Amino acid sequence: MITKPKGTIDVVKEDALLWNYVNYVVDDMMKSYNYEFIRTPIFEASELYHRTVGNTSDIVKKETYDFKDKGNRDLTLRPEGTAGVVRSYLENKEYASPDTKKYYYNGTMYRYERPQAGRLREFTQFGVEVLGSNDPAIDAEVISLQYHILEALHISNLQVNINSLGDGESRLNYKDALIKYLEPHIKDLCEDCQERFKTNPLRILDCKVDADSDILKNAPKTIDYLTKEAKERFDTVLKYLDILDIDYEVNPKIVRGLDYYDHTVFEIVSLDNEETRQSVLGGGGRYNKLIKELGGPDSYGIGFACGIDRIIALMKDIDLYKDIQREIDCYVMYVSEEEKLHALDIVQNLRLNGVVTETDSLNKGLKGQFKEADRLNAKFLLILNNEDLKRGLVNVKDNHTKEEEAVDISEIVEYIIGNL
Ligand code: HAM
Repeated sequence: MITKPKGTIDVVKEDALLWNYVNYVVDDMMKSYNYEFIRTPIFEASELYHRTVGNTSDIVKKETYDFKDKGNRDLTLRPEGTAGVVRSYLENKEYASPDTKKYYYNGTMYRYERPQAGRLREFTQFGVEVLGSNDPAIDAEVISLQYHILEALHISNLQVNINSLGDGESRLNYKDALIKYLEPHIKDLCEDCQERFKTNPLRILDCKVDADSDILKNAPKTIDYLTKEAKERFDTVLKYLDILDIDYEVNPKIVRGLDYYDHTVFEIVSLDNEETRQSVLGGGGRYNKLIKELGGPDSYGIGFACGIDRIIALMKDIDLYKDIQREIDCYVMYVSEEEKLHALDIVQNLRLNGVVTETDSLNKGLKGQFKEADRLNAKFLLILNNEDLKRGLVNVKDNHTKEEEAVDISEIVEYIIGNL
């Protein structure tokens, strides 16, 4: 038997119901915040990710799915969504628009990681990118949007961890301090960190292997090295978050695993499965230099992404899915071919009027059809029989109260809609 590739999942059964539910809530909230949907390609020129996510990031060094197409082009399956959105913004000259562009997306991402619970090779993110505004209120809006989507999904035990990497000058000051601090300890850190020390020392703070070592715990903090302007900017973001009533924790450990960030960086974790790294449901930050680095004007950007697979795993862990069950409005039952002709017509009529309707397709007897209707949690059963039909009637049974009523066939749709 052919099985699915390692690190991928089939979204089926209750996962599929949750999947639709999550997407429904996401779409709804994005509309309220006035974000416009964007879809970009699943593969892009490899160079895009080298220049955005960064050559020194784990993602580009070890985790991308790179391939050459038949035209010998170097392509990469997208490991994240920000780079593609910014590329599209520049290619379509959207920066010429006088408005702030607020995009949201939802799609599969690919990273060649060691698969484990909540860490897949093909996973799905929803996310936003806001381009063109440096207003700290946008930082607060993006964090609040991410928080409220998770809250709307009834995930209540959430914590926003926030930090600032500051501007270019702040980062240089910090990098110097960090190098001085780490130099005497570097031999005690993992091999990857020794390499990161040469290429991008900030990355060491993000190390999964050494996360609990005292060396990293006592490392200098980015917020102590912010310039006056960067510090003021960060304080304003925090003030706006207070106004929006978002609880946050300033957490110096948040430096994020991608190279493009500056100023505000944040992650939202679930305290319900805090002990694992997979508790990070989403993260993001500002990337004010990226647009120019990709050949665009001096502009601004900020965004976040959340892992849908992780959200669904958490919802199942904390039993949130109990209330979300598959159910239908009507099950239409018949036995003879003559009744079937009416059934087909009634089913279509109900469906086209927005009533969720199912009928038998396996030639089951009435008993089997009753069972099927129960399995589907049908609210109403329409039990067709020739005698009623001759008189223009259909027997409608409320499957919860068990009450039955003969309803005029021409009024069936109104009757069901009126009683749902
Ligand atoms: P990220 O932190 O790499 O950020 O990923 C965001 C979220 O995607 C994670 O918090 C997690 O929920 C989910 N995720 C990441 N990797 C996996 C995986 N292997 N399996 C399952 N879920 C995963 C970004 O991707 C940035 N583009 C976010 C951003 C947008 N920054 C600015 N704008």
